Amino acid sequence: MPTRELRKPLPDGTRNVWKPITRTTPALFLTALFGLQGKTSIVLGGTGTLGGAIADAYGRAGSYVYVVGRNQENGQRRVNLITENGGTAEFVPCDCTSEIDLNGLKNHIDQAGRSADVLVHCAGKNSDTPYLRISDDEFRMIMDTNFNSFRLATKLFIDFMLAKSTPGRIIAVTSATSGIPLSRVPIYSASKAAMESLVKFLAREYAKQGIHVNALQPGFFPAAQNAKLLEDVNRVDAIISHTPVGDFGKPEELQAAAIFLASEFATTFVTGTTVTVDGGFLNTTL
Ligand SMILES: NC(=O)c1ccc[n+]([C@@H]2O[C@H](COP(=O)([O-])OP(=O)(O)OC[C@H]3O[C@@H](n4cnc5c(N)ncnc54)[C@H](OP(=O)(O)O)[C@@H]3O)[C@@H](O)[C@H]2O)c1
Repeated sequence: MPTRELRKPLPDGTRNVWKPITRTTPALFLTALFGLQGKTSIVLGGTGTLGGAIADAYGRAGSYVYVVGRNQENGQRRVNLITENGGTAEFVPCDCTSEIDLNGLKNHIDQAGRSADVLVHCAGKNSDTPYLRISDDEFRMIMDTNFNSFRLATKLFIDFMLAKSTPGRIIAVTSATSGIPLSRVPIYSASKAAMESLVKFLAREYAKQGIHVNALQPGFFPAAQNAKLLEDVNRVDAIISHTPVGDFGKPEELQAAAIFLASEFATTFVTGTTVTVDGGFLNTTL
């Protein structure tokens, strides 16, 4: 019978683990652990409600923020807010379903002499078309926006992180419907489940090179992409009565989890996992 060898840990010093500095103030302790000073964050979908709140948090935590999306007005408004709050940011127009656009974004960041320390995929589309009426075009549009753009972005940016030896942090914004699918959103649910699967694959594949990949799973937050679904008062009642906190989420309530997953030092032993911010929705049954 072959003996099973214990897997050896990495040699000391190979993994850049968190070592708390001694004799410090609470503010300095928290800044050292969670702060993003000197980092560059890229928020795909930073022009939207949740991506905007995440971009705002990263600006406040000290990183240079690339607010990425198609809507110039929303993007510039977000950049202005970040700047007003003392941060630094710029808007880069990009259709995240286009490899050419994503490559242009990567080259733009490279030419500015920056790396990609934090990549958040928060671009998303939803639809409640009844299953039997979903066209191929609609199917492709949702899968392209939610899942294929995540594949393209991670393909390009992991390569960029590896080339620069960046201890990158990648965050996929998935959904409470990534596991057991919610009613009325079958393709959206499938696209989010696919994202969660890719998160786990990439986490396993690139952890040894210092790149950590996790999912951030919001519950229900009113935004443009779900506005139509939330016009249905019965659905709203069902959601609220199923949420122990008894409310929708506010975009700011996603910021702490987004900072945690972006922090190099808070996540040295965290990869391939999902952080849920849903007011208890997924833990609730009758
Ligand atoms: N709100 C919720 O309750 C909730 C819950 C779970 C998960 N989520 C997820 O959170 C993410 C953000 O959604 P949100 O709720 O904040 O909705 P939102 O305000 O409608 O934001 C959607 C974002 O996706 C971007 N986007 C869509 N297609 C794009 C494309 N082809 N290229 C680049 N950007 C594109 C939009 O940017 P442009 O219009 O500028 O292109 C916008 O920034 C989505 O992935 C969504 O699935 C939301």
